[in-house]
Amino acid sequence: MAARQLTIRQPDDWHVHLRDGAMLQAVAPATAAQFARAIVMPNLRPPVTTVAAASAYRERIRAALPDGSGFTPLMTAYLTDTIDPEEIERGFGEEVFTACKLYPAGATTNSDSGVTAIDRIEPVLAVMERIGMPLLIHGEVTDAEIDIFDREAVFIERVLEPLLARHPGLKVVLEHITTSDAVDFVRSGPANLAATITPHHLHINRNAMFAGGLRPDFYCLPVAKRELHRIALRAAATSGNPKFFLGTDSAPHSREAKESACGCAGIYNAPFAIESYAAVFEQENALHRLEGFASEFGPRFYGLPLNPGSITLEEQPLAVPPVLHLNDAAGTSVNLVPFHAGQTLPWRVQAHEAQ
Ligand code: NCD
Ligand code: ZN
Repeated sequence: MAARQLTIRQPDDWHVHLRDGAMLQAVAPATAAQFARAIVMPNLRPPVTTVAAASAYRERIRAALPDGSGFTPLMTAYLTDTIDPEEIERGFGEEVFTACKLYPAGATTNSDSGVTAIDRIEPVLAVMERIGMPLLIHGEVTDAEIDIFDREAVFIERVLEPLLARHPGLKVVLEHITTSDAVDFVRSGPANLAATITPHHLHINRNAMFAGGLRPDFYCLPVAKRELHRIALRAAATSGNPKFFLGTDSAPHSREAKESACGCAGIYNAPFAIESYAAVFEQENALHRLEGFASEFGPRFYGLPLNPGSITLEEQPLAVPPVLHLNDAAGTSVNLVPFHAGQTLPWRVQAHEAQ
């Protein structure tokens, strides 16, 4: 009997880290193989804070793509305390910046230049609200006295709720949500508030980091929470509610950087991202809702056209390699442990070739 198939409009990734240099060369093809467009995070060193830096980075991304790739990188500006609102407005007008990213200073990888207090960026938020430019938020407070598992919920209460009250017209995406608190807040919020959900937060809860020993490959930020939160995220993602859409937060760090005394936060899920989501939607009997989540709700929120192309998934086992050895053009090798390493996923993109 022929394998079951599912054809959906080509998806986009509304939150990805493509890095730079050898790592960019190693990882960009995987995202471009599945997604037509992606919102590219600006947390490079130094961060992407100017139109010129974003244009140059966009060129480096294009140069890292396979010949003939139709992939479109959508660039973001990294907000700092001293960011110039005019630069942001110009970058949006020139279609270099699609959105701005707010990292609370110290919240995650390369966030030390982030915003130290939200009132510092009031002028830029006012401009973004006026021109309809989305604000993408890493929603965690950074105060050391707040328990790491509570940082998202506290951020919503202390920062996000007042922010939306001050800027009722601002388009906001709460990125990579991890809690039922975030699900409830976004669901009951206004239409200009949405959220992205990663594959890993749909698959794992916090126990995964400690199963039989310390598992750095399941460490990311915001950190995975208790099972009740994972259940709420799965319900939100598969509900058909357009306020929740796909954003992988694929965040590659070399195997050596993950497996160290102070291992980096981030999960590399790009190579098998759509398969990872498909497994969840199948388990929730919601495969018919995958297309909305992966390919429709994101562009509608951003005010961008839907992709014309499609991809076909088929119910065929996909064995995820335990480790990927990727080479850049200069032959530098990067070792990355992909999400689902050593597991078998039930659906695969047709003619999908593992790297
Ligand atoms: C991201 C990274 O490595 O850049 N890490 C992560 O755990 N998600 C940063 C981020 O999105 O928090
Ligand atoms: Zn991220």
